[in-house]
Amino acid sequence: MNRNTINYYKLALGNSHYNYRFEESGCWRMAVSKKILITGVSKGLGRALALELANRNHTIIGCSRDQSKLDSLKPLLFNFSSNPHFLFNVDVTSNSSVEMFAQAVVENNLVPDIIVNNAALACRKCKIWETEVEEVDNVINTNVKGTINIMRHFIPLMIHNKQGIIINMSSDAGRAAHREYALYCSSKWAVEGLSKCVAKELPEELAIVSLDPGAVYTDMLALCLGDHHMASQFPSPRQWASKAATTVLGITTSDNGASLTIN
Ligand SMILES: NC(=O)c1ccc[n+]([C@@H]2O[C@H](COP(=O)([O-])OP(=O)(O)OC[C@H]3O[C@@H](n4cnc5c(N)ncnc54)[C@H](OP(=O)(O)O)[C@@H]3O)[C@@H](O)[C@H]2O)c1
Repeated sequence: MNRNTINYYKLALGNSHYNYRFEESGCWRMAVSKKILITGVSKGLGRALALELANRNHTIIGCSRDQSKLDSLKPLLFNFSSNPHFLFNVDVTSNSSVEMFAQAVVENNLVPDIIVNNAALACRKCKIWETEVEEVDNVINTNVKGTINIMRHFIPLMIHNKQGIIINMSSDAGRAAHREYALYCSSKWAVEGLSKCVAKELPEELAIVSLDPGAVYTDMLALCLGDHHMASQFPSPRQWASKAATTVLGITTSDNGASLTIN
């Protein structure tokens, strides 16, 4: 069956939307349609995950700083489903930008069921004492403060809704030490620590995990390896997204505080 010709029938009950999907096996399957916020949807893993989840008839609330890439993503999402996908130009390092994003999300009745804190920056391979000060600010502000900004503005909305799963994108670099990657590693170790601390603060209806996506061929991996050819030996974001979407949708409150990995 062609991706674009999959038939969905929708039923709204209270706050939840149920999809009935006609599968290749000839059976109808019922699934709840979720509102999923993903930061950094302009390229790489965030974009591929947004497209895969839209294809499964979930609603995407996405952001990045690149308006032209958001504009090109929009029709692709709506091609998969007519859900009220919502893309917003946000710099996660800016508290006021994230605050405006949260206000717009509330005004559009799109408080997320799931948040994927995916936006991040990597850095060139070098010793910490050779790292440029701007690079330190950019990586820590994006990977750590950006993740905190999203949590500060969106977790209260999830608490009000009495449900929510927060997934903070980590890395092998957040669980192991790698020479000449101290800056990026320390930002991802911070994401791991943050996730485990916040897990102890959340009410029991919510959960937070860190997720190592594995190595995937993106601009970020090419920057880290210093070589597009070497990076291209790894799976593409599209290949990765199918497994990742199943993992994201399968996380429950019993996973609270866990460090998960996509293998
Ligand atoms: N690829 C891998 O092999 C790998 C391995 C381990 C972990 N990870 C993690 O997986 C996540 C995605 O990585 P990726 O490889 O897909 O990276 P990528 O291709 O470089 O994409 C990064 C995304 O983050 C967004 N972003 C960066 N700074 C932002 C900001 N200040 N505000 C809003 N959005 C911002 C970018 O959008 P704009 O530039 O348009 O704003 C872009 O959409 C990251 O957390 C990364 O650490 C990746």
